[in-house]
Amino acid sequence: MNSLLNWVNERLPVVRAWEDHLAKYYAPKNFNVWYFFGSLALLVLVNQLLTGIWLTMSYVPDAEKAFASVEYIMRDVEYGWLIRYMHSTGASFFFIVVYCHMFRGLLYGSYQTPRELIWIFGMAIYLALMAEAFMGYMLPWGQMSYWGAQVIISLFGAIPWIGADLQQWIRGDFLISGITLNRFFALHVVALPIVILGLVVLHILALHEVGSNNPDGIDIKKNKGPDGIPLDGIPFHPYYTVKDLVGVAVFLFVFCGVIFFMPEMGGFFLEHANFEQADALKTPEHIAPVWYFGAFYSILRAITFDVGPIDSKLGGFIAMGAAIAILFVLPWLDRSRVRSIRYKGVISKIAIVVFAFVFVLLTWLGTQPATVTYTLIAQICTVLYFAFFLLMPFYTRMEKTKPVPERVTG
Ligand code: HEM
Repeated sequence: MNSLLNWVNERLPVVRAWEDHLAKYYAPKNFNVWYFFGSLALLVLVNQLLTGIWLTMSYVPDAEKAFASVEYIMRDVEYGWLIRYMHSTGASFFFIVVYCHMFRGLLYGSYQTPRELIWIFGMAIYLALMAEAFMGYMLPWGQMSYWGAQVIISLFGAIPWIGADLQQWIRGDFLISGITLNRFFALHVVALPIVILGLVVLHILALHEVGSNNPDGIDIKKNKGPDGIPLDGIPFHPYYTVKDLVGVAVFLFVFCGVIFFMPEMGGFFLEHANFEQADALKTPEHIAPVWYFGAFYSILRAITFDVGPIDSKLGGFIAMGAAIAILFVLPWLDRSRVRSIRYKGVISKIAIVVFAFVFVLLTWLGTQPATVTYTLIAQICTVLYFAFFLLMPFYTRMEKTKPVPERVTG
């Protein structure tokens, strides 16, 4: 065994990789529950890839047969129902996990210097994940697959000059058709998973280059022992591999609970209208995106008025794009002297609570019909959403921060 390992190691540095990324990767010893979500995101990613491969074995990417093939998977394929529910529930859990993971970054300033690239790769993953989920939702060819795609693709029509052509280019046809389904299938099953996997590798390589942040936001590399090992660091393996397993166990309880007892989650994870086959001649009464797009969809719908030459449709499109784009520049908006919310001032603390509340509210509003009251609430929330980011350079600089301790506090 040993000589085989030596033989491989002389040709491919597996031992060095094991040491650099696990056995001798020193992570801060004060990780809390928020730090479970990175490894959980990896777990869900693997779940999506594996269940996706098995679904592809029986799914037929053809507008005439797609809906029936999903029914076939649910009823006739051995354990097909389980594989499909693992994949559809996995999609929603992916976003739950990733939103918690991003919020952790926000709490502890993990996007600040020197971790800007980790954040930017993370945002690129998030974009790719949204595209992946959107295209995946089209595949069952249900009413919401069809009409949801119709709404989103028609957004591109709002872009001046090129809008109409762009829309047609995306669809590959004059209306959403089997051609659109085929290209979405190719992108969902092959292209985007490759992009996501590549980005995840870059995300983790960038993280391991600079080292993990922690709930105190302290740079543990500043306090090293005589052996050159950070005093507040512990080897990732075995300490965090074992600790992460606790997170995995709790996660699996919740995940299985949903899969086995409420896979549709009252229409939030699988919408009721999607149990009816797509019909280009019958518009559903209420078209709503899946919950994880809710916040950005609300921001899109909140722009109900024209601003000069920009009509409300284009305005909504711009606002939605800006809401996502602003997250990319977050590392340059936060000008605080400290990283963690623990040592930031009171304005930052209030701002982050309000932001979290506003984001959840926008998410929920996005799944509801746009009544006058709901639209007004969405407009107020949209203002607060942007205020959180645009005012950040000022309140993070002005406010009084607490002194950061020398060593991690636990
Ligand atoms: C497929 C999706 C993703 C996977 C598999 C993933 C994986 C990971 C892992 C394993 C870690 C190290 C463990 C941890 O700190 O929790 C990590 C750290 C980090 N991730 Fe992600 N991530 C994903 C998406 C994102 C997104 C969307 C963002 C933000 C836009 C993000 C931002 C960060 C940051 C800032 C860190 C460093 C945290 C710190 O050191 O405090 N990640 N990620």
